[in-house]
Amino acid sequence: MAGLLCAVLTTRAAPGADTAGFANGAVVSVDPIASNVGMEILKKGGNAVDAAVATGFALAVTHPTAGNLGGGGFMLIYMADKGGQVAGIDFREKAPGKSTPTMFLTNGEVDQKKADVGYLVIGVPGSVRGFYEASKRYGKLDWKAVVEPAVKLARDGFVVDEVLSRSLKGQERVMETFAEFGRVYRKAGGKFYEPGETIKLPELAWTLQQIYANGADGFYKGEVAKKLVAGVQAGGGIITMNDLADYQARVRTPVRGAYRGYEVIGMPPSSSGGTTVIQALNILEGYDIGEMKRRDTKAIHLLTESMRIAFYNRAKYLGDTDFVQVDLPKLTSKNFVKPFRDKIDMNHAMKSSALGADIVTRGEGSETTHFSVVDSHGNAVANTYTLEQGYGSRVIAPGTGFLLNNEMHDFNMNPGVTDTKGLIGTRPNLIEPGKRMLSAMSPTIVLKDGKPFLVTGSPGGRTIINTVLQIIVNVVDFKMDVQSAVDEPRSHHQWMPDTLTIERGMADSQASLEALGHTVRVGGTQGDAQSILIKDGKKYPGVDHRTRGGAAGY
Ligand code: DON
Repeated sequence: MAGLLCAVLTTRAAPGADTAGFANGAVVSVDPIASNVGMEILKKGGNAVDAAVATGFALAVTHPTAGNLGGGGFMLIYMADKGGQVAGIDFREKAPGKSTPTMFLTNGEVDQKKADVGYLVIGVPGSVRGFYEASKRYGKLDWKAVVEPAVKLARDGFVVDEVLSRSLKGQERVMETFAEFGRVYRKAGGKFYEPGETIKLPELAWTLQQIYANGADGFYKGEVAKKLVAGVQAGGGIITMNDLADYQARVRTPVRGAYRGYEVIGMPPSSSGGTTVIQALNILEGYDIGEMKRRDTKAIHLLTESMRIAFYNRAKYLGDTDFVQVDLPKLTSKNFVKPFRDKIDMNHAMKSSALGADIVTRGEGSETTHFSVVDSHGNAVANTYTLEQGYGSRVIAPGTGFLLNNEMHDFNMNPGVTDTKGLIGTRPNLIEPGKRMLSAMSPTIVLKDGKPFLVTGSPGGRTIINTVLQIIVNVVDFKMDVQSAVDEPRSHHQWMPDTLTIERGMADSQASLEALGHTVRVGGTQGDAQSILIKDGKKYPGVDHRTRGGAAGY
C-alpha cells in the first residue's frame, strides 16, 4: 500500500497486509467508512485534528454503538506544526446541575432500574463541544468542511454491514422500552436493516446540519438543545437548558512518563487512563520483561501484578481534578512505585485484598471506540469517545436522531459503600453537580526522540488501560510490529475483583498461571485498539479486527 495510491483496508484485508505503510497520512478506526472520511480530509489539506474531528462525526453516523454526539471522551493531540506542543481535550460528560451523590439509591442500595439505562443516567454530553474546541484551536480547515461528510452520510445514507446489522438486532428487546431508538434504527414497519441495505438517518442529519451551520452552539443552544431537554425531561431525566449552555470542554496538560527511552503521553483526569498506564509501565521498568517470551507465564504474571497495583492506586486516588486534589506528579513518578514493586513475588500471585482491603471496583460495559490519526507533517491525534455502554442510555430525544450516553454509571454511585462484587464508594469519584465521572479511556501517544512513534487507545471499560499497556509493551519490549502488537492476545486484571481475565489465545497459560495462585478466567475479546506506528516517516496501521477495523491512508 505504499506510494501515492490511497487505500482503505477493511476487515477483509489480511492482518499485516499493508506492511509497506503509508507515506503521507493515515487514519485507523473501527469503521472503514469513517477512516475514509478522515483520509479525504487529510488529502484536502486538513491536518490530523481536522481528520480526527471529521472521523469522529462520521463515526457518530456509521458506528452508533459508540460513535456519538450524545456522549463524551478525550482527544490527545501532538502538534508537530506547533513545535511538538501536546494537549488533551477533555470532553467528558458532566453530572447535571440537579444531580446528587445519592440519586441512584433506593433504600441504601443502587437501584438498577434507575442506574442502568434510561433518562436519569444521562450525563451532559461533551463530544460536540470537544470537537469544536479541537477544531478551533488546532485545526486548519473550516468547521463546515469537517462536519459536512457526516451530514452527507446521515442524509444520503450508507450501506449497513454485517457487524452493524447484527449489533442492532441485539438491541431488539431494549427497543421495546425505548421506542424512539427502535424507530430511528429500524425500517418503517419495524424490520431491521440487513447487510447491504442502505440506512438513512434524517433526524440525525438535521442535528448535524445545526452543528454544521452554527458550530457547537447549534447543539448546546437553540433547537437541538430544546428537543434534547424536552425528550429527556419527559422521560424523568434532569438535564436542563442551562446544563447544556454551561457545558465546557477543558484543555488539559497531558501526563507524561518515560519508559525505556520512550516518552509516554496520556490523558490526565477526568481520565484515569494516562496516570494508570504510566504507573504500570513504571513498575514494569524494574524488570527485563523483553527477555521473557510474550506469552510466558512469568511475563503474564508480571504484567498482572503491575496492573493490580496500578488499579489499586487508581481506585484510591483518582477523580475529576476540577473537584478533588490529585498529586499527578507523584502518582506518575518512578519513586512512587518502588515500595509496590517490593511486594511483587515472581512465584506467587499477590492477593488484592492484602494490597488494600478497603476498596473494590465493579465491572464495566463493553462499547466505546478509539481512532488514531497521523498526517504528513507528523501531527498526531489519539481519540477515544463513548456513550459508556453500547448505545448508551438507549434514549433518543424525539426529533434529534442521536443516542444519549449513560455515563453517570462511571461515578461511584453509593457513597462509602464497597463490596466484594465490585461496588466502589471512595470519595474522589462521588457524584457532584458539574463534575466529570472518572474514565478509563486512555488515548496515548508514545514519542521517540520527541516525535510520535505510536498512537494508540482502545474501548473496553477498565480493560482499556491494560490493552494500551500491552500494546506499548508488545512494541517496546517484545519488538513486535504494530499489527502483531494489536493482534496479540491480551489479559486484564483490575485489582478487584481479584480475577485475571485472558483472551482465548492465551488460554495455554491458564494452568500455569493458576499454579502461581491467580484466579483465571478465559474471557471474550478484549478491546479494539486501532493504532498507528510511525517509522522513518511512514505510517503503519495496526488495525484491530476484533470488531471490524479499517485503515485509510495515502
Ligand atoms: O469512560 C470509561 O471508562 C467507560 N465509560 C468506558 C466504557 C467502555 O469502554 C465500554 N466499552 N467498551
